[in-house]
Amino acid sequence: MKKLVILSGAGISAESGISTFRDAGGLWDKYPVMQVASIEGYEANPELVINFYNERRKQLLNVQPNQGHILCAELEKYFDVTVVTQNVDNLHERAGSHHIIHLHGELTKVCSSYNPNDPRYIRELKPEEFEVKMGDKAGDGSQLRPFIVWFGEAVPEIETAVNYVEKADIFVIIGTSMNVYPAASLLYYVPSNADVYLIDPKDVSINTQRPITHIKKGAGEGMKELLQSLVFSR
Ligand code: OAD
Repeated sequence: MKKLVILSGAGISAESGISTFRDAGGLWDKYPVMQVASIEGYEANPELVINFYNERRKQLLNVQPNQGHILCAELEKYFDVTVVTQNVDNLHERAGSHHIIHLHGELTKVCSSYNPNDPRYIRELKPEEFEVKMGDKAGDGSQLRPFIVWFGEAVPEIETAVNYVEKADIFVIIGTSMNVYPAASLLYYVPSNADVYLIDPKDVSINTQRPITHIKKGAGEGMKELLQSLVFSR
């Protein structure tokens, strides 16, 4: 089976009703990014940041995977698929994808404030625990914090992602503005003979000379077209 790697971003979840970050009216218009998504912001006002992610986490209970996520899972019938996502929601999982690498953490998990990547203290929350409070403690006695990779923090999963991207036969970029590193740099690890697709309704500025097939559509329609050209028209 050919190896297909998907790099997804907020745009794939937009059709489920989750805001993107950098589009007009996106999350970073409403909340100053460095206040709610940086380690400095967390240190300055942990309660504000914990509450921001409580809201995002609770939103998961009211949204469903859309056709874009579902077709990513469907691709597993035809390819050896790895989903590398910048999204912290769980919609790829819920749509049935089996191999997902979360570069920027997961909303449904919490961890230690001393060392967010200490596996002993990373824990999946049950829906009834979705509201994290000041004073809730991780196993090491530190404040329980969202398991999210903030600006200013390491991205430990990037190496695992690179290992898969380096072996890709097909690389699909969907719903990301390619503004955030190291996620955006994954494109540079794609083998030169692999086919690269981009699914996004807008132009995305990507710094590369290599050919990229742009399917200029939203996630659901775009994935349908991709499947059509990769699978059904061969
Ligand atoms: P952005 O908000 O930067 O980009 C979203 C992309 O999705 C844009 O290129 C849109 O054109 C596209 N888009 C919008 N609607 C779409 C649709 N219906 N179908 C397909 N694409 C659509 O989001 P990301 O690139 O994911 O990190 O942002 C990367 C990281 O920046 C996030 O993981 C987050 C943020 O700060 C952290 O919080 C650490």
